[in-house]
Amino acid sequence: MSSMIKVAKRTLINNRRSKYTLPTNTKLYPAQWNWDSAFIALGYSNFNLNYSFQEIDTLLSGQWEDGMIPHILFHIKDLNYTPNYKAWNCGKQVSSSGITQPPILASVLKLIIERQNISKRKMKKYYPFILKIKKCLEWFIKYRDPKRTGLISILHPWESGYDNSPLWDKPMSKVKIEPKLSYKRKDNKIVNPNQRPLKIDYDRYVTIKNHLKKMKYDPKKLYHKSKFNVVDVGFNSLFLKALKDLDFLLDYIDKRSSFLKKYILLNEKKLIKLFNSKKMIFKNKDLKNNSLIEIPSITNFFMLFSDIKNKSVNRSLIKSLKRYCKNEKYLFPSIKPNHKLFEEKRYWRGPIWINCNWIIYQGLKNKDKKFAEIIRKKTINLVEKKKFREYYSCKSGLGMGAKNFSWSAALYLDFILNRS
Ligand code: DGY
Repeated sequence: MSSMIKVAKRTLINNRRSKYTLPTNTKLYPAQWNWDSAFIALGYSNFNLNYSFQEIDTLLSGQWEDGMIPHILFHIKDLNYTPNYKAWNCGKQVSSSGITQPPILASVLKLIIERQNISKRKMKKYYPFILKIKKCLEWFIKYRDPKRTGLISILHPWESGYDNSPLWDKPMSKVKIEPKLSYKRKDNKIVNPNQRPLKIDYDRYVTIKNHLKKMKYDPKKLYHKSKFNVVDVGFNSLFLKALKDLDFLLDYIDKRSSFLKKYILLNEKKLIKLFNSKKMIFKNKDLKNNSLIEIPSITNFFMLFSDIKNKSVNRSLIKSLKRYCKNEKYLFPSIKPNHKLFEEKRYWRGPIWINCNWIIYQGLKNKDKKFAEIIRKKTINLVEKKKFREYYSCKSGLGMGAKNFSWSAALYLDFILNRS
């Protein structure tokens, strides 16, 4: 076994606490994060299925009664993170944040079940997982698309997972910062502040959060009242894929849902309309301010992951993706480097993220094997050279942000041990 595989496994084990895993062993993220945890569970499935299912079980244990799976679960009352459990002040079973994150868990669970060849009989054990995921995806439709437009909204940039992406600059510029806002950041004391979001972004994150809290996180009110309401191509692509994968899982346990099947068709139709294949541009919608957002972000290409049943759209997406990265030695910059808002080193404004590469690879592997393989190899090489960092420069490969980052280790394992 290569020594890097061993180090990857050790990184995950070292970040593991009782029954869940931290995103890193530094003080930066002292809790369980929703989509981190799903990627981590996938990583474990390559060498320890028990840990994998425990990770998922713990994440689902924080599900709210209405179905939402929070973006952070604070299993330990740690004050080393802002906003901490007191500042959110919610979550019954487990203290949590009051917002969610991309529902990648459905796709991860399907992959694990397929790869492990788990029989229907053995699957019984995991029925509760599938039913909880179903409740979560229904929650999105009910509360994040109450008018049944076919597209899901996010109500805080943190819900996307790509917190300070230039995608949010315009809608965020409209958010009036709460007067006398008081909070103390810790992240920029741990990581070089030039590689973290700006103060003005944080002021607005906390302002939106405080406003959601004032409404007691009532999902019926939030959609209409939140200071931020955006339909994002990346998020909807992950959601559509989650619905399709849940549909597969429900079939497996003979619990089909015609409601979800119908929404899949609607979601796919509406998602395709957000891509103009002639001009090769993506249109994200700022519903709060009734305007369009057109930013060349790698997350737009998550549309490949959603396996749209339209060959010509898929072909245009691939052509456009090849253009997106044609001058780059390292793949994929989170924002196209020739764009005016690109920043080489600042969090989600330019650096490479391993989860994005994994999502794109999964989307490409059944559409353009050769290109997919290039991405797989380039990602493996980058991580082997620069270790398990949180993000990397697309110019020099420089590793940045947290060290010993769990999802970089988990997805490295997944890339290297699962050649398709
Ligand atoms: C952070 O603190 O940077 C997280 O991404 C927010 O969820």
